[in-house]
Amino acid sequence: MRKLPSLFDTMTLPVIGSPMFIISNPKLVIEQCKAGIVGAMPALNARPQTLLDEWICEIKEVLALHDKTAEQRSAPFAINLITHKTNSRLDHDLDIVIKHKVPLVITSLGARPEVNDAIHAYGGVVMHDVINNTFARKAIEKGADGVIAVAAGAGGHAGIKSPFALVQEIRQWFDGPLALSGAMAHGGAVLAARAMGADFAYIGSAFIATEEANAPQAYKQAIVDGSSDDVVYTNLFTGVHGNYLKRSIQNAGLDPAALPSSDARDMTFENGESKPKAWKDIWGGGQGIGGVTEVVSASALVRRLREEYEAARRSLCH
Ligand SMILES: Cc1cc2nc3c(=O)[nH]c(=O)nc-3n(C[C@H](O)[C@H](O)[C@H](O)COP(=O)(O)O)c2cc1C
Repeated sequence: MRKLPSLFDTMTLPVIGSPMFIISNPKLVIEQCKAGIVGAMPALNARPQTLLDEWICEIKEVLALHDKTAEQRSAPFAINLITHKTNSRLDHDLDIVIKHKVPLVITSLGARPEVNDAIHAYGGVVMHDVINNTFARKAIEKGADGVIAVAAGAGGHAGIKSPFALVQEIRQWFDGPLALSGAMAHGGAVLAARAMGADFAYIGSAFIATEEANAPQAYKQAIVDGSSDDVVYTNLFTGVHGNYLKRSIQNAGLDPAALPSSDARDMTFENGESKPKAWKDIWGGGQGIGGVTEVVSASALVRRLREEYEAARRSLCH
């Protein structure tokens, strides 16, 4: 077994609940961590920006209390920093992350050595998300400790690489923490990610259909009702390709089969949003949603994933 940084020692299932714009909030993060997986939240979800300090205080206090009494200590939490050059909140949010010594920081959209250095200075761990092997190398060269390989079918911004190709190529030169992202909503897929060489499954869309997620009921239901046939890959909404639910595109009066293209230069985080206002009701969702059949609590979802993971493990031993 590969040696991972000790902060991961309290995890009871090798899953990181991925940070999701708008959707992830302290309630969801706390329940994920209590259930034994990493809970993560984009810093940009705390608005106004002063709320980030309060939210991290809340997460730390509730988890510290839990750890005093519970049999099983909580898993670490993570904050996602968008390191894209247009993110005008980055300096502020990084200061708050440093103040709270956030154990795991997930960086996206541009690896930044100075950000990695600042997090390492207090002992934090950085994982950077990438869609191909070239970006993975750059992230590690620039000082990230680990990578999140975002494969085809992931909800939100996603790549086009097969998970098999991506993990294989990264593992040929990198022995550090590696999470695999994209279309996982079943414990068997978590085991498969491990078998391929990843340390963690990175799961987002399945957590949209939880009681704690900050999403309208209709969005949660669309995740429950949907399958991979209901997911569209387009760059129209942010300038960068990602996966979105057809239903929300139709609700916005657009034809999902005939969407115009956009341009990566259109992407901006200047007003703290990843999408222009016109597209705020477009719902992100990955190809794995066929595995989601009901809205449940985050702890019930983690319990199901754990049971499926153990069952898949046992079935391979026969
Ligand atoms: C609605 C939505 C919003 C997302 N927002 C972010 C984000 O703000 N930052 C980020 O790093 N990744 C974001 N992601 C991508 C996830 O971190 C992750 O790669 C993805 O959810 C994993 O694939 P899955 O959804 O198929 O499980 C988002 C994904 C979704 C579905």
